[in-house]
Amino acid sequence: MLNTELLNPASTAQLERAGELLQQGKLVAVPTETVYGLAADATNPDAVSAIFTAKGRPADHPLIVHLHDISALTHWAQHIPPSAYVLAEAFWPGPLTLLLQKADHVSPVVTGGLDSIGLRVPAHPVLLELLTRFKLAVAAPSANPYKKLSPTSAQQVMATMAGKVDAVLDGGDCEFGLESTIVSLLGDRVEVLRAGPIGVAALEQVLGFAVHQPKKHQVKVSGNVLAHYQPNTPLYCLTFSALSQYLDGTQQKVAVLHITPLATPRPHALPQQVSFQMPSDPVAYGRALYRVMYEADALGVDTILLELPGTDPQWSAVQDRLARASSDPTNIVGMLSSST
Ligand code: TXA
Ligand code: MG
Repeated sequence: MLNTELLNPASTAQLERAGELLQQGKLVAVPTETVYGLAADATNPDAVSAIFTAKGRPADHPLIVHLHDISALTHWAQHIPPSAYVLAEAFWPGPLTLLLQKADHVSPVVTGGLDSIGLRVPAHPVLLELLTRFKLAVAAPSANPYKKLSPTSAQQVMATMAGKVDAVLDGGDCEFGLESTIVSLLGDRVEVLRAGPIGVAALEQVLGFAVHQPKKHQVKVSGNVLAHYQPNTPLYCLTFSALSQYLDGTQQKVAVLHITPLATPRPHALPQQVSFQMPSDPVAYGRALYRVMYEADALGVDTILLELPGTDPQWSAVQDRLARASSDPTNIVGMLSSST
């Protein structure tokens, strides 16, 4: 067990401590604008391999390398197509990860043995300052145990990773709350492999040609594992009317994440039904989702019920995470029929 330090970047000494730890090959959880990352010096294969141990993540799952600036691109990648520069100029620093052919010197530990590498310049000022000041590039997956919810605050990181990492740098709540959009520039066409804060329309507008978003793909993206981002409590996503019907008929302890206001007073509402009013705007919803799921999970309820949000493209990152976080939807059908 490590004695995990909680560092406050408002103190120069504590920010420097984070930089020193990284330079020494230690693990530091760092804030990004998407979710917290579990960082190690990307040039140090031993440090990077400790990330996999701390997370319990299989060694063949590649990591994203976080750069201080677009100028570092040529150090980490080779045969970079012009579209990479177009996207990087438009969206970096920001929640966009580009998959490119890795430079020869990059350790396969970082890329899970692949010839490609995921790169991004994060937009969080604390992390950017750390990378710039210490001339670092850090490999960092989300700072959660394998298959668990990505953390959007330092407290959430501490709750699951204390004892497993050397330090957590507290940069406050994450601005987006959902992981970066992953775009592959490896093939003939540009493909979105993980939906995220930057949507297909925004990418197409900048590139001036079509971007593909395959429903199924073989490329290794851990978010591509179907059972991922799962809370410990079973989560079911359903329409508002199905959700209301279920609530009225159940004796279970339930947490409800809804967009449509619940009728008040609800005549049948039980004290063990805890409701969370979710934002109706997709960006605000994304920012809240993991935090609320995490809170709901900590309540010790039997079930988390979630009202399905919209289906238009602005919701695609949220829809993607919900599909992966939810338990088998056929179960809810069984629960509904047994409750009536
Ligand atoms: O917003 C984010 O992307 C956050 C923050 C910390 O930057 N990071 C993150 O990392 O979500 P992680 O490891 O939880 O998810 C990154 C995904 C993984 O599913 C990995 O498989 C994929 O990126 N990835 C990384 N390098 C890749 C590569 N060379 N080829 C295919 N997929 C890759
Ligand atoms: Mg992750």
